[in-house]
Amino acid sequence: MRAHRGAMLHFRADPGAHADPASFEFFADGLLVVAAGRVAALGPATELLPGLPRDIEIIAHGDNILIPGFVDAHIHYPQTDVMASGGRQLLDWLKDYTFPTEAVFANSAHARSVAEFFLDELLRNGTTTAMVFCTVHRGSVEAFFQAAAARNLRMVAGKVLMDRNCPQDLRDTAASGERDSRELIESWHDKGRLKYAITPRFAVTSSEAQLQSAGRLAREFPGSLIQSHLAENHAEVAWVKQLFPQARSYLDVYDRYGLLRERTVYAHCLHLDATDRARMAQAGAAAAFCPTSNLQLGSGLFDLSAADAAGMRFAMGTDVGAGSSFSMLRTLAAAYQVAQLAQQSLPALRAFYLATLGGARALGLESEVGSLAVGSEADFIILDLQPTPLIARRTAQARTLAEKLLILMTLGDERAVSRTYVLGQLQCPPLHRATDS
Ligand code: GUN
Ligand code: ZN
Repeated sequence: MRAHRGAMLHFRADPGAHADPASFEFFADGLLVVAAGRVAALGPATELLPGLPRDIEIIAHGDNILIPGFVDAHIHYPQTDVMASGGRQLLDWLKDYTFPTEAVFANSAHARSVAEFFLDELLRNGTTTAMVFCTVHRGSVEAFFQAAAARNLRMVAGKVLMDRNCPQDLRDTAASGERDSRELIESWHDKGRLKYAITPRFAVTSSEAQLQSAGRLAREFPGSLIQSHLAENHAEVAWVKQLFPQARSYLDVYDRYGLLRERTVYAHCLHLDATDRARMAQAGAAAAFCPTSNLQLGSGLFDLSAADAAGMRFAMGTDVGAGSSFSMLRTLAAAYQVAQLAQQSLPALRAFYLATLGGARALGLESEVGSLAVGSEADFIILDLQPTPLIARRTAQARTLAEKLLILMTLGDERAVSRTYVLGQLQCPPLHRATDS
């Protein structure tokens, strides 16, 4: 048993567009007690300290803020090496940069080395849980899950299904994709902290037979997750309309094949109509809002107000490598700017909700991660309020918690994440470099 002392913030509900103060708990001088990797107690330090064993180790975090680890609802680990490559729009970007980079993952040693780098980078940025695309290669999934298991991380991932409209060397078939996915689910889903996501890349690259097989897997393994891309780019939407003329909309394609239910995350959801959003809400599926990707590829602006009006759940994704940062703070800064461009609003408290509990809810993992509620897995980070001279200066002038959070998300990046704990153990910086544990 071990305790952490300092300012602490976590959420119990979505603060919404008006930042409902009942949605979060903040302790200016809080205590978080961790036992066996879980939160054993949380509250004001002065109330909890008298009831604790005298010799309990207490780690003091000074003026920093302890929050749950970030949850990234949409990211591609094999695209680490696609980041920052050129100003194309989606379909050209896939053909010219992404598919060639993903083809190299036929080599499992390469996949292992990228998976290791990727997970270390996530932890440096304070992201402790992510919903991750691998490549079409089965070995890319094995490599990812092995690396995640070695770090004891709560991760969701899946093998990309794609059997058409992509390079020959990146194609599976409906039959091989289904067989590989089933075997991967049986080997990895619910193994320790890992979960499997059935992963058709998008409607463009899967035949009807493959979408059918994905729907079959979703029914056979109801506890698994589903992830794909939806309505990101106008040319993509037009292509889907041509490929599936019988469907009412792009979303309806997935719906017809049984790929719309809870624990389903569709990245982007930019070009939806009101019927689509209502259907997403009714199904309990979530959108991953990936603002740096949407700006980088010129895809469009996520409509927060329309999502709220429909009751459509959404969470934050970096969408590395179309996205331009691993940092959830940089991602929140872009989200704020996207809202501003549309005369909408994203209060800082809501932004931090979306990056923690909101993400966990989208993934159906809110009982495990995303908050500091008693019983949760103790994945948390320490936010440094003085990581740069500028942030220190601006934070010293801030009066409220919301102001401090807005400064951090507007000006901050991984330098503002001073420590990342996984199941109560310091994971980043590595122990031998840290001054305490
Ligand atoms: N749509 C289909 N595949 C992808 C991908 O890898 N990245 C993005 N941003 N959109 C996609
Ligand atoms: Zn993506």
